[in-house]
This record gives sequence, C-alpha cells and structure tokens, in this order.
Amino acid sequence: MTEARTESSEWLIYRGAGEPHDGMDRLPPPPPWRDFASRETAGPGADGSQNRRLGAHRHLAELHRPGAEELEMINAALYLRRPLLVTGSPGAGKSTLAHSVAYELGLGNVLKWSVVSRSTLQDGLYHYDAIARLQDVQIAAQGGFTSAAGGGAGSPGAVEGIGSYIRLGPLGTALLPSDMPRVLLIDELDKSDIDLPNDLLNVLEEGEFAIPELERVADRLPDGEAEVLTADGAKVRVRDGRVRCRAFPFVVLTSNGERDFPAPLMRRCIHLELGRPDHKRLATFVRAHLGDEAARRGDDLITHFLERSRSELLASDQLLNAIYLTDAAAPASRDRLADLLIQRLDRPR
Ligand SMILES: Nc1ncnc2c1ncn2[C@@H]1O[C@H](COP(=O)(O)OP(=O)(O)OP(=O)(O)O)[C@@H](O)[C@H]1O
Ligand SMILES: [Mg+2]
Repeated sequence: MTEARTESSEWLIYRGAGEPHDGMDRLPPPPPWRDFASRETAGPGADGSQNRRLGAHRHLAELHRPGAEELEMINAALYLRRPLLVTGSPGAGKSTLAHSVAYELGLGNVLKWSVVSRSTLQDGLYHYDAIARLQDVQIAAQGGFTSAAGGGAGSPGAVEGIGSYIRLGPLGTALLPSDMPRVLLIDELDKSDIDLPNDLLNVLEEGEFAIPELERVADRLPDGEAEVLTADGAKVRVRDGRVRCRAFPFVVLTSNGERDFPAPLMRRCIHLELGRPDHKRLATFVRAHLGDEAARRGDDLITHFLERSRSELLASDQLLNAIYLTDAAAPASRDRLADLLIQRLDRPR
C-alpha cells in the first residue's frame, strides 16, 4: 500500500460531492482480516477463517510465541481432554487461540458457536425442522412433490427421510465420532443466559447426547442409521439417535469476564487468563497480518497504543485497523486518523 500513500485527502474514496463518480475503481483490496473472497481460494476443506484470524504472513519467522503459562494450560487441556476456559480483555487473542491450535495441530476448520443471550444448549447440539417436514408431507399429499426431499426413500413423510430435517450445531458436530479431535470455539460464553453454562456441563462431561426425534424411530431406520447434516455442511450417519464422541474435542470457551461462571463448570475446565498483549506480541499480530514492512512503519502506533492502554480499554483489532488505514492515508492525517480509530471501549474514568 506504500504506493497508495498520498498527500491531503487523495485517499478519500467517498467525497460527499453529491455527484456520482468512479472512485470505487481506486478502492484498494480489503485488509486481510476482512478479505472474504479468500474463502474461495482457501483450498479444499478450508474455510479461509485461518488466514483472516491468524494472518496470511503467519509463516514469517519469530511470530507469536505464547508465554510458558499459556502453552502449559493449552497442553493441559489437550492432555486432560478438558475444555479450556480463556478469559481476558477484548482483543487479547482469546478467540484466535482456538485457530492457532487447530492450525498448528492440523485439526481442520474451527467449529464456532457464537453465544448470545438467547443461545440455548439445543442450538449448539442440533436443530430439527419439524415445520419443513410437515410442509413437505403436505405438498406430497397434494401430489405436488417431485423429488423426495425425504431422503430418497419414498415420500417425505417416510421415516427414512427424517435425517434431512436435522442439522447438527457446532457442539453437536464436534461430538461426532472421529479419531482426531475437532476444535470447537464456544465464543463469549459470558453473554449467555444464566442457565447455559450449567446446561453445557452434562454434555461436556459425558461427551455424548441424544436426538430423541431419531431415537424414537431408530428401529424403523436401516441399521438404525439416519443421515444428517453437520454444522460444516457435511452429511454424516447417526446411529440409534445418539451422537457419541471418540476423541473429546478441543473446546475453547471464551469470556470477557462480564460475569462469573458456576463452580461446577470452573472445576471441569482448565482456566487460562490471557494478559494484555505487550509490544512484542502486538508487533507479531501486525506482522502476521500485514507483513514486516507495515509492522516497522506502525511501530510508533504500537507504542502509542500501549501507552493509552494503561488507562483506557482498547482492543488490538483497533490497532490493526489503524496501522492498515494510516499506511494508505496521507501522513498529515496519520495521527488524527489513528486516534479516531483507536477509541476507548470503556467509559472515561
Ligand atoms: N496468534 C495470533 N496471530 C495473529 N493475530 C492474532 C493472534 N492472536 C490474536 N490476533 C489478532 O488480534 C486481534 C484480536 O484477537 P481476538 O479476536 O482473538 O481477541 P479476543 O480476545 O477474542 O477479543 P474479543 O474479546 O473482543 O472477542 C484479531 O484481529 C486477531 O486476528
Ligand atoms: Mg473473541
């Protein structure tokens, strides 16, 4: 983007001129963490989120090296087959940790469950679309059904087709039997309803769950099996209406510490508190996403960011945005623009 470095307001695409123009032709490619087109070139089986989260330059030497405690706690969770509860301030790298582990250990795409206040255990496990099934049965009864959405075995109402109306959620998919563990990110668990952490306990303890809609009809299914859809869009066979893991998934629960979790959950998790990233760590984030040159040019912004972080709540994403954008903007607007982008997330004390 150095070539794009311009004086004055040249970098502005939208000018508020009130007249249409072809400024969009000059819009540079998106920052790597907002490059959704890269999903198409991510390669077989990859969803592109690793590049967006870990940076396309992550192969550069001397990138992020987790501290000793961080490494130990991650490995403890791996060895003990326990969920890892990661707490820390915004932008500390909690969510990205799951991607780092999946990438380094070749565990495939991360299954992500973004928790909101309405999330229930059921959302994480599976969804049964009873209404769609009913509609298909009605259409078939009216003679309007041509292709058997019911799974190719007779009418849509036939028991054999029931699996087509079931889609496993991220947690349900992570618990499918496999030799290697899947990585599951249960993101921002502290945003959940008060019951969810407790509801999760049992499933995480047992490593299995039932799908009553399938259990009920299992004796009428060929080999007791139904074909259902996973959270990543694959088709898998579920036997006797139960999903039972073989390798317990590597589960990362994240929390900004907005509330405390019940003791029974804490007891069953390995807890890692991520500190605020220091200069070295922030520089590695920048290098991973934007390369060496950009990290060098943005070094003063990292120092400024860290100074402000002593009294203000800031997130490393804001720093990445600022370094990326100020690289394209005129030097005269650089500091002002950085301050505009790095806004404190807490209230002034
Ligand atoms: N190991 C890493 N390598 C490269 N970039 C990283 C790494 N860890 C974190 N980052 C970058 O730092 C930024 C913040 O990371 P992340 O989103 O994981 O933080 P978080 O703690 O989950 O924040 P929040 O609480 O706001 O969800 C992201 O832009 C991410 O790409
Ligand atoms: Mg996060």
